[in-house]
Formats: sequence, structure tokens, C-alpha cells
Amino acid sequence: MIELRSDTFTQPSAGMRQAMAEAEVGDDVYGEDPTVRALEAKAAQLMGKESALFLPTGTMANLVAFLAQTRPGDSIILSETAHPFLYENANLAMVAGLLTRTIADSLGKFNTDQLRERIVRKNDPHLSQTTLVSIENTTNCGGGACWEYHECEAIAALCRDQGMKLHCDGARLFHACAVTNIQPHIYARCCDTLSFCLSKGLGAPAGSLLTGDSETIKKALRFRKMLGGGMRQSGILAAAGLYALEHHLPHLAEDHRRAREFRRALEEAGVKFALPSPTNILYLQCDDAPTKVRMLAEKGIRVLARDSDLMRIVFHRDITDEMLAEAIEGFKQVLIPT
Ligand SMILES: Cc1ncc(COP(=O)(O)O)c(C=O)c1O
Repeated sequence: MIELRSDTFTQPSAGMRQAMAEAEVGDDVYGEDPTVRALEAKAAQLMGKESALFLPTGTMANLVAFLAQTRPGDSIILSETAHPFLYENANLAMVAGLLTRTIADSLGKFNTDQLRERIVRKNDPHLSQTTLVSIENTTNCGGGACWEYHECEAIAALCRDQGMKLHCDGARLFHACAVTNIQPHIYARCCDTLSFCLSKGLGAPAGSLLTGDSETIKKALRFRKMLGGGMRQSGILAAAGLYALEHHLPHLAEDHRRAREFRRALEEAGVKFALPSPTNILYLQCDDAPTKVRMLAEKGIRVLARDSDLMRIVFHRDITDEMLAEAIEGFKQVLIPT
């Protein structure tokens, strides 16, 4: 199988499995797992933040960031294609009690003019106050688009000016860093909190980190426990994360190269793509995507139908150059009439 549905399909490498097997562990709910402590320290240092918290998923990392920085009844601004808005099962409303104010943009990003229009900071008892803005880097539904530093900083300056917090869902932050050459801590200094995932293209079986100042992370720890995210000997998972940060980050540039080559080969054959896609997530346009997805699956190529005329294709570290060549051939056979 050539698995292109998501970069969450990456498998732990042999070295990672060994690091997991040898991890020193303790009960992390008691704060006694040395490997989790080491991963949290590494995450805080990488992002230039005071503190970090290990969580099972990116969904929980976003949710505790929102819970720790808002109050029920506040409003939060984010892209209308942001993961927490579309794919986290309304937890913003159901768990955090937040009103969402969304911004439409095909890349899943926004500028200060778009943001300014959505902010509510008026002293009017009718209105829910906006206290948090959330950006996504890279944007999943925006074709893996990256934020430039000046774009983040402009949003951050407006947030500071309006007394609002800024969270970054950096599930694929390292993918952005690989393209923009911006260091993670430079991105992170624009944001009050930043989360990143170890399970998106990095081979770890689970795990995300939320980074921020100590006070916010202390609150996040309480919410993690409330949500059932307090794990015990989670050093086994943290060891995978440490291994990924040490050994797997350089491979991301290769994933981006393969995504580019795939796209170029198909564009030369007349296939159309929907968005610029500078990283590893591509959206291919075609008629009747569900049928084409089934035809590709029969050839051992797995992709997702995003809409009736759109497929999502995601490159990651388990796709080799041979698989890339096979995928290009398979797509041509399915998409291009002979
Ligand atoms: C941008 C983004 N944020 C958050 C998440 C949630 O991560 P998880 O699946 O670990 O909950 C995802 C998952 O794909 C994602 O793409």
C-alpha cells in the first residue's frame, strides 16, 4: 500500500521503537516520569517558552490552551477551516463554552484587516468579548500553507493591543520551519501558547506538546487532568517524541520535495491542483473524487476524497522515491483518459 491519506500514518522507526523500549518511566500524574520531564523541557527550550505540557493528542493540546486562556461565554477568532473549528467535534462550544467567530480564507490564514473586523472588545453587556485568537501553522485545509514571521507578528501586535491572547496550533509547525527557515522559537515568540504534534509526519505513535508561560501551563495541567489526559508511564510515548525531535525533523524537507515532484509530474500531464501547497499536503481537483479514490485504492494507492471534486494527498517519511514514482504512474492511469 502507498499510504497518502495522512502523515499521521507514519510508523515508528526501528531506532524509535528501541528508544521506547528502553525509556525510563514513572507515574506522570505524580510528575515522576523522567522521560516526560525531559521531553517537556526539550519542548519548552525549542520554543523559547518557560514551560511545556505533554498531552496525548493535538486536539487536547488545543482544547486545554483554549480552556486555560478564556472563560465560558468569551468568543474566539479562528479560520473557518481551522482544525479546532471543523474537526474537533464542537469541543470549543461543548467543553470550553466559547462562541466562535470565523474568518473565511482559502489558505486558512488571515491578516489584521480580516481579524480586526471580527474582534468584539466593546463594553456592551449584549456582546461576548473576544479574548483569544487561534492561528494554524501549517494550515491543514489550506494546503499546508505556512505563515511568514511578519504575518504572525502583525496578528500578535493586534492581539496585544486589544488585550487578547494568541494561540498557535502548530500541529505541523516543523513543516513550516523547513520551508520558511524560521526557527520554531521565533514563531513561538509571537504567540502566548503554541502546540505541536509528534504524530504528524514524525513517526511517533502519539503525543503533542503545549508550550507557554508557567502560569498558563499550570492551568493547562489541571484541564488536562479534567479531560482525562493524565497518563501514567507515558515516558514510553515521550521517548518516541524525543527520538523524533532528534532524528526525524530533517526528513521533512524530503517529504516536501516528493510532494513537489508529484505535483509537477501530474501538472505536466494536465492535472489541476487547488492550492499552492508549499509543504506536504496537496489538494488535487478532479471529477467524481470518491470514484477516483476507489480506483486508486484498487491500485494500492490510498488518498482521501475531501469533496466531490477534491482529493487530499499527504506526503510523509514512509513514502520512498520508488513509491512516489509508482503513485505518479497510478494517478496518471486513473485521471488521464487514454
Ligand atoms: C492542524 C491540526 N491541528 C490539530 C490536529 C489534531 O491532532 P490529533 O489528531 O492528534 O488530535 C490535527 C490532526 O490532523 C491537525 O491537522
